[in-house]
Amino acid sequence: MRSSSKVAKIGAVLVSFSLLCLAHRAIAIEGFGNKEDYEFPENFKFGVSTAAFQIEGAWNEGGKGESMWDTYLHQHPEYTLDHSNGDIAADSYHKYAEDVKLVKDLGVQYYRFSFSWPRLLPKGTDNKKNKDGIDYYHRLLKELRKANLTAMVTLFHWDMPTPLMDLGGWSNPKMVDYFLDYARFVFTEFGDEVKIWTTMNEPQQHCYNGYGTNYFVPALESGGIGDYLCSHYMILAHAKAYRLYEKEFKPYQNGRVGITLDAFWAEPKNSIDPIDIEAAERYRQMRVGIYAHPIFSKVGDYPPLVRNIIDGNSRQQNFTRSRLPVFSQDEIQEIKGSSDFFGLNHYTTYLMSQPTVNDTWTIPSWDHDTFVRMEQNPAWPIPGADWLSIYPPGIRKLLNWIKNNYGDMPIIITENGMCDFGGLMDYTRVQYYNDYLYQTLLAMKKDYVNVEGYFAWTLLDDFEWTDGYATKFGLYEVDFNSPERTRRKKLSADNYRNIVMTRKIDFDYIKQPRMKKLPYQRNEENIV
Ligand SMILES: *[C@@H]1O[C@H](CO)[C@@H](O)[C@H](O)[C@H]1NC(C)=O
Ligand SMILES: *[C@@H]1O[C@H](CO)[C@@H](O)[C@H](O)[C@H]1NC(C)=O
Ligand SMILES: *[C@@H]1O[C@H](CO)[C@@H](O)[C@H](O)[C@H]1NC(C)=O
Repeated sequence: MRSSSKVAKIGAVLVSFSLLCLAHRAIAIEGFGNKEDYEFPENFKFGVSTAAFQIEGAWNEGGKGESMWDTYLHQHPEYTLDHSNGDIAADSYHKYAEDVKLVKDLGVQYYRFSFSWPRLLPKGTDNKKNKDGIDYYHRLLKELRKANLTAMVTLFHWDMPTPLMDLGGWSNPKMVDYFLDYARFVFTEFGDEVKIWTTMNEPQQHCYNGYGTNYFVPALESGGIGDYLCSHYMILAHAKAYRLYEKEFKPYQNGRVGITLDAFWAEPKNSIDPIDIEAAERYRQMRVGIYAHPIFSKVGDYPPLVRNIIDGNSRQQNFTRSRLPVFSQDEIQEIKGSSDFFGLNHYTTYLMSQPTVNDTWTIPSWDHDTFVRMEQNPAWPIPGADWLSIYPPGIRKLLNWIKNNYGDMPIIITENGMCDFGGLMDYTRVQYYNDYLYQTLLAMKKDYVNVEGYFAWTLLDDFEWTDGYATKFGLYEVDFNSPERTRRKKLSADNYRNIVMTRKIDFDYIKQPRMKKLPYQRNEENIV
């Protein structure tokens, strides 16, 4: 998709300028003056998110073992866009106290970060624990407590210990047990201090890109097989960790455990064409339902549609067994209901339609099984990485879809944000947060979706996986050329702070320079 990004961007600029007058008319007609009437409830949880590998650095310090990202990037220095790795990243391992101050300055009450599995258990297994790593997270948690901030900790944010990856990582059924050992150790060691956990971050991105393709480490390119094995055992490992906590820790630690799933919104390209509507729903079930249905639905197990597609394709492709593994009846029961909230990461929307003769995929693959043509709307701006185009109503539609499919459980938006190529005057990011948070408010106030909290991605510019340091998601800038990794506040940090402190979105809080047009067309369509 990279090569097409320039074209898409030019298209977005043209469209946004030509529609600007229309936008002003729409504002006058629909009377958006009462936009500001919407307020976030007093107990709404505002926070900001990070992940260990993306900010900590100190890859071989303090007794840390290697994660598969360390090992792979050292062996393939050309893998990332800027040929960088996570050796130092934002150096948060050393600068954690300063980073806690940055979180505090946002006015939020919550900080979501992840434990590095190989920093705590250098070989991944619990026979050897790393005292320095344990101390590091105790120091971080203490700093948060001093700042009156509540920690939300992710157990697995993609940094699989290398010795376990060498055994197949999540494609190895035994990984469920090793994850459970890790979880038990973490709940025992940190459970007094941490009351809200997410087990896995974005299994779909992790399994599809890492096991199914080569876009993420471990770059296994086992399309349609390895990616489903990875998903299967991550779901099972999540559920077993949840049940472990429920049985042995919850009675006296009184915390909550959930999972974080990622979801693009899938919009039918032609909103009245039944074929496109079906394609969009097929995509949602294949990408989100495959995780959400076993955990959050009343009946459990994989969605029937997903089971039918993959079983059918497997038969046709002459596999003796379905490429999608099967949960036992006991496992279905164990997984069902194994999350105290729906953790949701959302960034962007794609248009879905039926594939044409020109859409070809490797067979087998998740893409071929899904069988949906995905494209971006050229009217939606792409301020940074070419997969992320801006369509704020997508988040409201997605929240409604989750409620309609899985009922009225609490949803915590554990990540939302956008990337650009840097700069402190990040007007587009200001507008992105205003508009996505406004759409979230509409979902809450008009559609009665039970959104409990919102975490911005991300605190500071970081290592963005395959993009290296080329794309920037931070509310604070990090100077990666300076050994100090100096942090500086962006406009979007001030704007987010104002939202958090006032519980309201003030669309005029950050004034656009007079000569500058809105960074993009504010899209008010589909607000009912
Ligand atoms: C800590 O935060 C809570 C709400 O999150 C607030 O009620 C309390 O007053 C705060 N305490 C201090 C010392 O800031
Ligand atoms: C499956 O096997 C049948 C019978 O041997 C063969 O005709 C068909 O082409 C095979 N299908 C694929 C997708 O290879
Ligand atoms: C397939 O691609 C060719 C060449 O780019 C194009 O001319 C044709 O219209 C495409 N067909 C469809 C159905 O999109």
